[in-house]
Amino acid sequence: MPSLSKRVGTLQESAIRKLDFVVRRQEGVKFHRLNIGQPDVATPQPLLDAIASFRPRVLAYGPAGGTPECREAAAAYHARWSPGLDGMHVSVTCGGSEALLFAFTAVCDPGDDIVVPEPYYTNYNGFATVAGANVRPIRTTLADGFHLPSDDVLDAALTPRTRAVVFANPGNPTGAVYGREELARLLAWAARHDLFVIADEVYRRIWFESPPTSALEFEEHRDRVIVVDSLSKTYSACGLRVGFLLSRNDVLMEKIERLAQARLGVQPLAQHVAMAALSLPESYYEEVRGVYAERVGGMVDALAELPGVVAPRPAGAFYSMVELPVSDTERFARWLVESFRHEGESVVVAPGPGFYARPTDGRNQIRLAAVNDVATLRRGVELLGRGVEAFRREHG
Ligand SMILES: Cc1ncc(COP(=O)(O)O)c(C=O)c1O
Repeated sequence: MPSLSKRVGTLQESAIRKLDFVVRRQEGVKFHRLNIGQPDVATPQPLLDAIASFRPRVLAYGPAGGTPECREAAAAYHARWSPGLDGMHVSVTCGGSEALLFAFTAVCDPGDDIVVPEPYYTNYNGFATVAGANVRPIRTTLADGFHLPSDDVLDAALTPRTRAVVFANPGNPTGAVYGREELARLLAWAARHDLFVIADEVYRRIWFESPPTSALEFEEHRDRVIVVDSLSKTYSACGLRVGFLLSRNDVLMEKIERLAQARLGVQPLAQHVAMAALSLPESYYEEVRGVYAERVGGMVDALAELPGVVAPRPAGAFYSMVELPVSDTERFARWLVESFRHEGESVVVAPGPGFYARPTDGRNQIRLAAVNDVATLRRGVELLGRGVEAFRREHG
């Protein structure tokens, strides 16, 4: 066989999906999936109605950067916080994932660096690999609520090849929310070092105390800010695969359009559904916040009852990066799936190291997702507690 590229050779296996292969091999076990951010919340009816009402004669290509209607709708939606946006500031993408890939590709040459507060969303590694870039972590800690460290610590992550900083706000897996002040400091820091700022705002509607600030709100940084948004989580529409890349930087947007042209556009049906999503009333988003506040609260309260477990209450998104009294959560997570059973049930968790740049970090942590109803989550957490006890008895 001819040899494959070095690039694919260095692609990491997703920490979140890793256990799926093992789970699929188990028979007759009911698994509680706390490892993956796939909500079971029903997709809003207007989106399903939009699917039914889409009846083209020809399933034609759409414009590469998105249909004008969809781009305008996304711009109008974001203009609620960031006035002055129009359709030219938007490219419709295949989920937030493709927007991230486009952003990384547009700002990095092979060998360039992107800094990211860690723990971070694991797929940033994959996008960086495809773009030929390296991810350089900036450590944040559970003790500090995973907020950004001082500028000195940020500086230490820089190299002569650093091109951008990327972060999720609200954070996956951390649940940290950056407000105006914290974001202003990060943007000022990025400006001092002439970096692009890639703000992944796919959880922007899911917050519990105060809302995140969008990086697009800082007009003075218009040329360095790239925002990623997605329909996946906000509208429980992960399978629709629609996201947006937004920026006020016209030169960048012209290059993003070329990247979009290379793959010919997002399916028009999905964009038609996206417009239905973007026209939902504000009350819809309040409902969504209520649903996740209850779920996240239920999960964290249940975790607080487990001895030796530290579970931060997220300020946004629906994950918690949890510390366990276990020294190797990779091994623990696999053991749960392969060997731990209680009344025919088991639990799947995402091991912590996958969210860090070095596999030796985060080894006593797991990430849990609060994407099911509270009763189901409580049962999952109960099983986790039993699993921790049994694992410690067996493995010390
Ligand atoms: C932080 C973050 N960014 C981006 C994505 C990509 O989502 P999608 O491609 O479905 O929009 C996810 C999905 O879980 C995520 O957690």
